[in-house]
Amino acid sequence: MIRPVIVAGVLLLGLGAVSAQQDAVKNAQTVMKTTGKNTGALAAMVKGDKPYDQATVDASLAVLEETAKKLPALFPEGMKGLPSDDDYSASPKIWENKADFAAHIATFAKTVTDAKSSVKDLATLKAAVPVIGKACGGCHETYRIKKS
Ligand code: HEC
Repeated sequence: MIRPVIVAGVLLLGLGAVSAQQDAVKNAQTVMKTTGKNTGALAAMVKGDKPYDQATVDASLAVLEETAKKLPALFPEGMKGLPSDDDYSASPKIWENKADFAAHIATFAKTVTDAKSSVKDLATLKAAVPVIGKACGGCHETYRIKKS
């Protein structure tokens, strides 16, 4: 009776693939949450909840720059349609409108690069954060799904 063993093996392989994809979902969510936290640190200074601090600005923009670099590989093909146990999930449109999704990544990356060279004080931070925020929102609007 060799057959049940093979079937079990195939099942296990299948499960391995699924869990690797679930890891990809988790990874994307972790990267986005870190991005959210660091954008929040910038926004807190803009709102006046925290004093302007160049070191925090530099560190947060460095994280956002990392996000921009990670984004092109953050949503691998096999992730399409996978369930998310989080409040948000990735829209299938990411894999259907690849060129547009890539354009959103490029727009976002540019806002971060621009901010890195322009932000030197509170006034320049206040000018840059809404531009970055618009790039986040521009992508989320189409490619992020909020659970109802
Ligand atoms: C090119 C597209 C894109 C850009 C740019 C982008 N995001 Fe996202 N973000 C997504 C997608 C897709 C999801 C949904 C992924 C998921 O939750 O599975 C997401 C999810 C999130 C989440 C929810 C994570 C969770 O699961 O709880 C936060 C917070 C977030 N993004 C913050 C940001 C911030 C802040 C920026 C800008 C600084 C940003 N994102 C830029 C595509 C993008």
